[in-house]
Order: sequence, then C-alpha cells, then structure tokens
Amino acid sequence: MGVKTKTGIVIFLMGLFLSSAWSRTEKVKNTSILKKHAFGKTEDGKEAHLFVLTNKNGMEVSITDFGGTVVSVKVPDRAGKLADVVLGYDTLPEYAAGKAYFGGTIGRYANRIAHGEFTLGGRKYTLAKNDGENHLHGGIKGFNKVLWIAKDVSTKSVPSLHLSYLSKDGEEGYPGNLSAEVNFTLTDANELKIEYRATTDQDTVINLTNHSYFNLAGDGTILEHQLQLTASRFTPVNSTLIPTGELRSVQGTPFDFRESNVIGARINQDDEQLKFGKGYDHNWVLDAKAHGKPALAAIVFEPKTGRVLEVWTTEPGIQFYSGNFLDGSIHGKGGRSHQLRSGFCLETQNFPDSPHHPEFPSTVLHSGAKYNSATVYKFSTR
Ligand code: GLA
Repeated sequence: MGVKTKTGIVIFLMGLFLSSAWSRTEKVKNTSILKKHAFGKTEDGKEAHLFVLTNKNGMEVSITDFGGTVVSVKVPDRAGKLADVVLGYDTLPEYAAGKAYFGGTIGRYANRIAHGEFTLGGRKYTLAKNDGENHLHGGIKGFNKVLWIAKDVSTKSVPSLHLSYLSKDGEEGYPGNLSAEVNFTLTDANELKIEYRATTDQDTVINLTNHSYFNLAGDGTILEHQLQLTASRFTPVNSTLIPTGELRSVQGTPFDFRESNVIGARINQDDEQLKFGKGYDHNWVLDAKAHGKPALAAIVFEPKTGRVLEVWTTEPGIQFYSGNFLDGSIHGKGGRSHQLRSGFCLETQNFPDSPHHPEFPSTVLHSGAKYNSATVYKFSTR
C-alpha cells in the first residue's frame, strides 16, 4: 500500500471519528427537544435558566433550575388547541419573592410540621414557623427558592432534565446533609414524569412534592372541573391545618370524590373541615398500597376544553388544595391576577406532620438509606 493510500485511510478514519463525536455532542445537547434559555440571576448573582421540553405531539413544559419550578405546561384541548394549564410568574424575582409556591419543588418537608419542631433520635430540632404557629413547605427558603444544578439527561427522542441540590446540615433547621435529585421527563404519551431521589449523612425527615397549580381550562376558576380521587379516607385537621391523627372515611362527606364530582358542588357546605381549610386543603389517604410503581391517585376533567389530567404516584397521600388563598392580589404570567380558586394543586406526599404521628407512614430518612418517590401528571382529552 502506497503512502498516499495510507494517508487517505487515516484521514478517512479521522473524519469518521470526528463526525461520530459531533453527533454525540448533538445528542447530549438535544436542542430540538430540550432548549435552554437564560432566566435571570439569583439575589447572589448566579445564573438561572429556563429549560423547554417538547414532545412529538407539540406538548411543551418549561422548568427553571430556580426552585426546580414548573413554569408552564402547554397541552392541547380536544380541538388540538394548546393552552398553558399551570399558574406561574414570568420572571425569577417574582418566584424568589412569591408566597404561593407556584410550580415549585417543595422540600425538605412538604406541608406542615406542627409548632415548627420535631424530635428525632432523642434530639429536638427547631424549624421556622412560617405558617402561623406551624412550619410549612420547608421553611423560609425551601427547595423552591434555591438554585439547583441542571443536567440534560434526554435520550434521542425523550427530553429529560435532571436537577440536583445539596441541602446542608442545619439548613432551615433540618439535620443532615441531604443530597436531593429531581428528574423531569416529558414522554410522547403526554406525561410529565417527576422522579425524586435523596440520601443523607444523618437521620432526617423528608417529604418532597411539586406545587403546580393547574387550571385545565387555561383561565377562570376551577370550580367546574370534575375531580375523582382514589381515596376512601382523608386526614381531618385542626383549625391550623394540622392532622388530628384520625383517618376518617369520606363516606357521606364533601370529601367523597371516589366518584367524579364537580369541585365546586360541595365546597361551600356547612362543614367544619371545609371551614378550617377555607375550602379543600386536605390530605387524602390513597387506597393503593405503594409497590414502588406509581398508582392512579386522581383524575380531573374540564368539560369545556375536554382536557383530562391524571395523577399517578408512589406516595401514600395527596393534598388536594383548591386555591383558597388566591385572592386576586397575586399577578402571574402576563400580569394576570389570580382570583380565588383559579387553580388547584394535587400534591403527592407523605401525610402532613408525620414527625408527630408515629401511626402515619414514616418520613424519616436514615443515614445511608435511599429516598425514592415518583409522580406522573398525564394529560389527555375526552
Ligand atoms: C399548600 C397548603 C396550603 C397553602 C398552599 C400555598 O397546599 O396546604 O394551605 O399554604 O400550600 O398557599
């Protein structure tokens, strides 16, 4: 073989190598299904981003690494028309200042811990009382107000965003360095899959959720939405929304959503629990026993647009919150003011205040053990 032929082969092989390396980078970037944009800076000058995940049906989900927050979810109605079905803000400073937890990843402990304290391993831990006398949604600067590290973990056709955050020992009063991860995947079946993982180097408590407010019509109130919950019991609360410990049957109460019912039908009934919540703001005990695979927890149907949302989860509970604290004072995306009950949350979770209720499923994460949780929000039309 002549020198020229050899050189030719070497050049050919180098070309082959470079082109495959190029396609590998392209694959990691996956720009057509996962786009990255600037989303302003945090108070301490760090760059935040907005990631836009798109599937083959044109469904589009935007998530920011600030707070692991779902900013928008655009899904078709029965005529194929897209609308954004979650409440949120346009800018990072609004998320940083906001009180409604729009779309955020909630931790270290979603929902309430009574009196902002708990005892673990014989030691008492003191947390912020940021909801009257109780601790709510991880404290003053919960996981929804910190910057997460983002990584594009998409496959060729399925966009997926991986976020990680190290919550240091003592942060917001919780013990142990907790290494938390959240994965958001948008499938071609119009599912937004959220997978949580965490480990700790000291025993701690954990309860992670997502706080998206949905409105399947895209605007107006959610009172005409039809809700079904696969739950025969709920955890009644005291006047500060702390569970009493009872698991009460929903039978004959306005909390019975075992068959689909209009959210607004019974919301103003003369019922002590509804008064405490100013509407629905309660944890339902899901009938399915956790097997590590998500089970169906809720189905919501919006009759005008035909949009359907199914919620599947590995968690034992779900907080159905009917947006009772929205009062028109919050201005969200496009300056729109959010009126009473213009969005609802379905927060998959362990039961609120579990650290004070040994009879509830445990929320203790032992040092060296693995926390795993998954929730799927699946959209369709009818
Ligand atoms: C949760 C709580 C509600 C309320 C909202 C945020 O869903 O259960 O009481 O605090 O968050 O406004």
